[in-house]
Amino acid sequence: MKTRHEINTRHEITTDTFGPATKHARDRCNGACKGNCRCPQPEPSRPDMADLTRYPLVSTMRAVSFDDAVVTITWEDDTISRFHHGWLRENSPDPASRHPHSRERLVSPLDIPADIRPKSVTLESSVALAISWDLENQPVSRFDAGWLRAHCYTRHRFIANPTRHHASLTPQPAYWSAVMHSDAMLRVWLRDYLETGWSVISGAPDEHDLSTRLGARIGVVRSSNFGFQFDVMSKAVPISNAYTASDLPLHTDMPHYELPPGTQILHCLRNDAVGGESLLSDGIAVANLMRDHHPEVFRLLSQVSVPFRFQDADGDYNSRHRIIECDAAQNPIFVNWSNSTLAPLDADPEIMPQLRAAIRLFLEYLQDPRFLITLKLNAGQMLVFDNRRMLHGRKSFDPTTGGRHLQGCYLDTSEVLSRMRMLERDSGEQEDPAPEPAFI
Ligand code: OGA
Ligand code: ZN
Repeated sequence: MKTRHEINTRHEITTDTFGPATKHARDRCNGACKGNCRCPQPEPSRPDMADLTRYPLVSTMRAVSFDDAVVTITWEDDTISRFHHGWLRENSPDPASRHPHSRERLVSPLDIPADIRPKSVTLESSVALAISWDLENQPVSRFDAGWLRAHCYTRHRFIANPTRHHASLTPQPAYWSAVMHSDAMLRVWLRDYLETGWSVISGAPDEHDLSTRLGARIGVVRSSNFGFQFDVMSKAVPISNAYTASDLPLHTDMPHYELPPGTQILHCLRNDAVGGESLLSDGIAVANLMRDHHPEVFRLLSQVSVPFRFQDADGDYNSRHRIIECDAAQNPIFVNWSNSTLAPLDADPEIMPQLRAAIRLFLEYLQDPRFLITLKLNAGQMLVFDNRRMLHGRKSFDPTTGGRHLQGCYLDTSEVLSRMRMLERDSGEQEDPAPEPAFI
């Protein structure tokens, strides 16, 4: 029986093994041109990969071959991709291997023989690769060129966050009504925010609950021991140093959780007291600098975990984190630090002095003018930042001189990246897909 894909593709494309389809659709000139027709070539149809992303055709396929281990694709731009046979079988988009509606995988590694190999590998067109497997009862696997190129692991695409910046970056100005009412502006804003790690949105109305309104426009707001939304103001009986008028040295929020939230939104309702300036510093940029210039400090901060604890009448949370978290290639991807909730350090006595000195150096660099950003939020402004990258803080303020009130909430980074991909999918502009989540 023919699969959906065969029906889609075979009827108008001339099969051309190991080379791109060069012949035109005969019905345009009825074959009278004998192959020299100048009539417009039909667009070859692209196999359905059961994937909602529109992968750009960075290049088309010129030739394919295979050996005992891999299928090799030579692209028109002369790059080469190699895919292992088992990997290709596992990612076959045929309906028996990937559900056409859920788009989730049905075939398991246990269904795929370790020595699986193709019987034939064919370029049905310059954008469609077909593999017949050298086994009974296996579906034909058809792959789209854009999908293959996007998932090519021959090049080092899999290393998360390869950009290694060495100073804090400055975002574009952004406005509440644009971000809230225009999906195109939300997309532009999110992309800028994901690049710089922070943003200030101006022009928010003088209303409560706007941090969670912006949060809900992005994705699922994440509740915590501080509530669905929290009020940052000087309180008579504060459960956190944040709810005093004291200064807050640079920190990340919630390292007492096993997964600290990725994005924090702080909406300024009032800030007319003397002081209360906001502070930001790019922890990943500082970590990159430590890796390059203080490798021993970097090694300690990225290998030794430290404990954090938050306790009040309603909860007692603790968790451990490395202050600099790296991926498998030792690229720093997250930072964790809160002086307020750091539990007593418990490192091996042999390294305790070095660890404390390393922390001190890290904190000093964070305050270096290359990294430290100081700004005073006005009523109607929102500070949004990546809580796992940017450390934030504030200068003390004098409550006898005026008021200071922020409302805030959190989202996980997965929500932000999902929204970004959705907006790119809907806009049809997915030339440069939203970044992969960093992984360790
Ligand atoms: C916080 C915090 C910053 C501020 O609530 O965690 O860091 O400007 N607040 O008050
Ligand atoms: Zn904070």
